[in-house]
This record gives sequence, structure tokens and C-alpha cells, in this order.
Amino acid sequence: MGRFIVDGGAHLKGEVKINGAKNAALAIIPATLLSKKPCVISNLPNISDVDLSFQILKTMGAKIEKQDEHSVMIDTSTVHKTEVPFELAMKMRASYYYLGALLARFKEANVAMPGGCNFGVRPINLHLKGFESLGANYEIDGGIIRLRTTNLTGAKIYFDVVSVGATINILLAATTADGVTIIENAAKEPHIVDLANFLNSIGANIIGAGTNIIKIKGVKELNSSDYTIIPDQIEAGSYMAMAAVTRGDVLIKDVTPKHLESIVNKMESIGLKIKKYDSSLHILSDGDLEKADVTSQAYPGFPTDMQPQITAVLTFAKGTSIVTEGIWDNRFQYVGELCRMGAAITVDGKVAVVEGGKILKAAPVEACDLRAGAALIVAALGAKGQTEIKNTRYIERGYEDIVGKLTALGASIKKV
Ligand code: EPU
Repeated sequence: MGRFIVDGGAHLKGEVKINGAKNAALAIIPATLLSKKPCVISNLPNISDVDLSFQILKTMGAKIEKQDEHSVMIDTSTVHKTEVPFELAMKMRASYYYLGALLARFKEANVAMPGGCNFGVRPINLHLKGFESLGANYEIDGGIIRLRTTNLTGAKIYFDVVSVGATINILLAATTADGVTIIENAAKEPHIVDLANFLNSIGANIIGAGTNIIKIKGVKELNSSDYTIIPDQIEAGSYMAMAAVTRGDVLIKDVTPKHLESIVNKMESIGLKIKKYDSSLHILSDGDLEKADVTSQAYPGFPTDMQPQITAVLTFAKGTSIVTEGIWDNRFQYVGELCRMGAAITVDGKVAVVEGGKILKAAPVEACDLRAGAALIVAALGAKGQTEIKNTRYIERGYEDIVGKLTALGASIKKV
């Protein structure tokens, strides 16, 4: 189990390049199953969740050839299994995308109930309801979800809760179904659009991705393509948070500023000066940070995956901030670790009250999930002294070379 040792107090200065979006990659890799022709996927982040998704495809018989550091050629024509092994599915939430992808390709899928970060109950009822509407049956047997269909047929599917995962799974399953599928109250996150763009690039007929109504006209066969994944807006937002608490002066490169609007607005409201360019953002934190109220929401709202990082920033801001978690039931588990460093935060259900302006002091702390880990790095960079962060494997699930990138910006961080 790795640990990060972070000496707080350095001002971050310089440039940082943002990698491809984790959550787009984790949808697009299984989507390659829909075509029997090889696809080249570029701008893939080098993170452990992507490696895990490759392992899943390989155990099913796919050929994966590295083209360069961030590109692979995936050939799924050789896939012959319809089962994702339990031990792999358990390690990652996004393993459930193999349900939709395998169902589309083989009319059956066998995937263990997914694992992943634990923010309370993470049901998949909407995914299953969507598959049923398309004509599949399922049973859960020994912890394995078994989906079967004789034929998938387009349908109108309404989600009463906006779900990224369910929208993605239905996009995957409906792409080659007979007829037209309409998803109402679909998620609008940039990675939904990215998946739809990838599927369209191999011959799918999907319109409306990025709005709350997506129309999918089923096609018979899909082709190959050479596709580049969008930048990761949460990685970019995390570096903004790190710049915020270190009086940083950082150019965040290779981003899509449109995807970052809610994060940029919030960071500006707490006092960061942000210059926007076509594919980069210049962040300057040269004054006191101000309090802010934040509610996480589905896109285009403030992302839940930035909630822990902004909470860590607000511990350094003047005044009392209120942070409301609008998506997950239990995403404040990291707060105890921030308090161990001297933060004054109280949590009542889905609301945290952050009494800012405290001087955080280094302490041994433990990451309990990916974004909680990022929040602890934010806190450690702004704290006095040397912080030890345990469970780096969570952080490495979603941030490529975070030690190298922060070191290049002048931070003192090492992995032991
Ligand atoms: N929900 C249901 N039923 C379902 C599915 C979801 O009630 O069948 C509820 C959930 O309980 C939650 C809400 O709907 O309250 C939203 O969940 P969603 O399905 O959108 O989340 P997800 O697809 O499981 C993805 C990201 C998460 C991110 C959420 C919200 C991936 C692999 N994961 O999860 O990312 O927090 O969307 O934006 O794309 C992360 O990257 O750190 C991460 C956790």
C-alpha cells in the first residue's frame, strides 16, 4: 500500500498538461466490443482503472496493442467470452459498462455486481430497467448479473433519476438494437457526448447527446475508427484546487474550457483570477480566498467529483462555507481526515459546514476513495509540515503521474 509524503507550503508555479478523461475512457474501451473491426483510441490516461479495463477485455479474448504512451489499438474480433471475472469487476464501478456492450455484441452478458468507490448505496436499477425495456431479461445469481435477450428492440426509456452510468449502458445496448431508442432525462456529462461521438465515428446513429433527450437509431454493423478522448475536466479542476491553496500561478494545458465552466465560476467566486484560452486556463491565486456555498449537481452543475477538493480549498477561505452533496448519499467520509489536519467541518447528512480560515497542520491521513485522496493532496499542499497520505492506490486510479506533475510545478511530494 503506497503512501504520499507531501511537504506543504510550496507555491505551485508552471504548466501542467491534463490527460484524457478517465470516465470517457472507461466507457469507450468497452464500446469497442460493438465493432469487430480494430479501433485506435488515443489520449487514454495512464491510470490503473484504464489498465483494469484492458485486463477485462483481454481476459475475454481481445487483442490490445500499444501504439504510443497514450494510444492503443483494440481488436475485439477475437472476443469469445461473455463473462467479466468477479475479481476484476469487483475492483471498478465502470465494469458494469460490459453489461451493455456484451449484450449488444453477443445478446448475453455475465458481469459481477460492480465494486468501486463507496459513497453509500450505488444501485443499478435504472440500468436493468433500461435493458428490460430493450427486450433483455436478467437474473442475479451468486453475485453475477446475467443478461439475456433473443433480440434487442428500440424503446422509449425514461430515467426518473439522472444517471451517467445508466445513460451510457443504454447507449451501448441500443446502438445495434432494431429500431429507435429514445432516452429521456439522460445525463449530459461531457463523457456521454464523447461516447456518442466515438460510437458515431464507427457508424452509429445517435443524436442529442449532451441534451436530456438522446435518440439512437439502431444500425446493423459498426466499423473501425481512430478516436481521441476528451480531456479530463476533474483532473483539471483538481489542479485548480491545488493552485488555489498554494498561491499558485499555473497554466493548465490541454483542457476544454467549456467543460470546466461550473468549476471555473466557483473558483473565481472564491478569489482565483482565471484567464481562459482556447485549450488552456491560467490560474492565479494571489489573494485571500473567500467563502462560497457549493452544491454538487449533474452536469452542467458543479460536479460531485470535485466536491471533496473544493471542500478542502474552502478550509483555507475566510468565513463559513456550506457544501451540499447533491448526488451521493455518503460522500463526506474524507472530512474526518481533513479535521485531523485541523479543519473545522461539521457534517449533517448531505450538508457540510466548513468554518474556513484555519491553518491546517500536517498529520498522517488516509484516502478513502479517489477524489477524497485528491482532497487530501490539496489540504497537504496548503498545510504546514509534512503530511503522509496512505492508500495512494485510490488516487492512482484516476490521476496520471500526479507526483511527477506536482513536482514539476514545484511541490514537494514523493511516493514511498
Ligand atoms: N442511481 C440510481 N439508480 C441507478 C443508477 C444511479 O438511483 O441505477 C443514482 C445514484 O445512486 C446516484 C445518482 O443516480 O445518486 C447518480 O449516479 P450515476 O449513475 O450518475 O453515477 P455512476 O454512473 O455510477 C459516474 C462516475 C462517478 C460520478 C458519477 C456522477 C464513472 C465511471 N463514474 O458514476 O465518478 O461521481 O457518475 O457524476 O463514470 C469518479 O470519477 O470519482 C466517480 C466516482
